[in-house]
Amino acid sequence: MMNLQRLFIRFALVMLLVTVLAGVIASFAFLFPASFNSVLPFHQLRPVHASAALFWIITGAACCVGYFSGRQSKAFMVIWMITIAVIFLNYGFNNYGGREYWEFPAYLNLPLLVAWLFFMVVFLKRLPKDAPVYYWMWTSGVLFFLITFLEQNLWHIPWFRESFLREVTVQWKANGSMVGAWNQMINGLSVYLLVAISGNAGLAQKKKTWFLFFLGLFNLMFNWGHHVYNVPNSNWMRGVAYAVSMTEWVIIILIIRSFKSSLSAARKFRHLVVYRFISAAEFWVFANLLLALLMSIPAINRYTHGTHITVAHAMGTTIGINTMLLLAAFGYILDVDNLSERTRKWLQVAIRINTVSLAVFWVALIVAGLAKGYLSVDHPENSFFDVMKAVRPYLEVFTAAGLGVMIALGVIGVIYLRYSHERHSANKKEITM
Ligand code: HEM
Repeated sequence: MMNLQRLFIRFALVMLLVTVLAGVIASFAFLFPASFNSVLPFHQLRPVHASAALFWIITGAACCVGYFSGRQSKAFMVIWMITIAVIFLNYGFNNYGGREYWEFPAYLNLPLLVAWLFFMVVFLKRLPKDAPVYYWMWTSGVLFFLITFLEQNLWHIPWFRESFLREVTVQWKANGSMVGAWNQMINGLSVYLLVAISGNAGLAQKKKTWFLFFLGLFNLMFNWGHHVYNVPNSNWMRGVAYAVSMTEWVIIILIIRSFKSSLSAARKFRHLVVYRFISAAEFWVFANLLLALLMSIPAINRYTHGTHITVAHAMGTTIGINTMLLLAAFGYILDVDNLSERTRKWLQVAIRINTVSLAVFWVALIVAGLAKGYLSVDHPENSFFDVMKAVRPYLEVFTAAGLGVMIALGVIGVIYLRYSHERHSANKKEITM
C-alpha cells in the first residue's frame, strides 16, 4: 500500500473520531447551555459534528472504492484532505458560511469539486469488461455524488435564492439524493465484501444483486421525495418516494441473508470481525426499516414530524448501517482478522457495546420525539419550555448512551489507526475483477 493511501485511510478514521467526539460535546452543550454557550455553543458544535459525519462517510466510501478498484487518484486524495483540514480550521476560527451540513465558507466547495473530478477521471477511465455489479454500484455512486454536489451548490445562482421555498426544496432534495449516492457506493462495497468473504463470485451476478443495483439507482434518483415532505407537494409523490426507499432496504437484507446461509463456518471464522460488522449493519437495516414504516403511517407521522425521530432516523442509518459497513470494509483492507486474538476480542466487544449503546441512543431519541410530538400536537397549550422540560430525561439517556457509542467507535477507530501504518491487505487478491 502506498504511503498516501495509508494516510488517506487514517484521515477517514480521524474524521470518524472527530464525529463522535463533537457529537458527544454537542449533546452536552444542548443539555447544559449555561456552561457551554460562552465557550462552545451547540449551534457551533452541530455543524462541526454533521460535517465530520458527512466527510467520514464520503471519504471512507471513496477511499475503499479507490482501494478495491485499484484506481486511486493522488491529486484527489491530496486536495480532498487539505480542503477538509482548511474547513475545520475555519470552524475553529468561528468562520461559518454555506448551507446546512456544508456550513463552511462557500469558496471551499470549489477545491472539493476539483478533487472529486480527479477521482472520477481516474475511476472512470475504463470500465472492466464484464464488470461485476459492485463496479456498477460504485460507478453510479461516484457519478451521482458529482451531480448532487452540483445541485447542492445551485444556491450560488441568484434565481434559486429569490424564493426561500425554491432554495430549501432544492437543498433538501440534493441532500436526500446525495445519501442515495453514498448508499450506492457503500452497497457496492458490501457486495464486494460478501463476494470476497464467501469466495462466491456468483453472488455479484445474481439477479437479486443486479436488482439491488437498479433499485439503488432508482432510489437515488427518486427517494428524495421523503426529504421534501415539509414543502408543499402532492401526496402521491410522497407516497411513491417512501415506497421506493423501503424497497432498497428489503433487497439488501435479502442479499445479506442469502450470503449468510451460503457461507461455510470456516470462511466465517476466517473473517469473523468483518462478518460481525456486516451482521450489525443487517440488524440496523431491520430496525430502521421498522422505524421508517411506522413514520410513514399518517397518524404517527402527525406526531413525528420535525422531532428527534428524524434525528434517530438520520443517525440510526449513518451510524448503524453506513458506519458499520465502512468499518467492515476498512477492517478487510487492514486485515484485522489476522490481528492478535486479544485485539480481535477488543474489536468484537466494541462492536457489541456499540450495538447496545446505539439501541438505547436510538430508542431514547424516538421516545423524546414521540413525547415532544404528543405534547405539542395534542396539547398546544404547552409552552416550548414545558415541552423541552418533559423531554429532557430522554435526552439525558441519549447523551449517556452517546458516550457508549463514542467509546465503542473510539476503540475501533484507535485500533484501526494503530494498525493502519503497518498492515496492508492480502485480502484484495482474493477476488479478481
Ligand atoms: C459515527 C457516528 C455518528 C454519525 C455518523 C452521526 C451523524 C449525525 C448526523 C447526520 C446528524 C444530523 C441529523 C439531522 O440533521 O437530522 C447528527 C446530529 C447530531 N448528533 Fe450525531 N452522529 C454520530 C455520533 C453521535 C454521537 C456519539 C453523539 C452523542 C450523543 C451524537 C450527537 C448528535 C447530536 C446532539 C446531533 C444534533 C441533533 C439535533 O440537531 O437535534 N452523534 N449526527
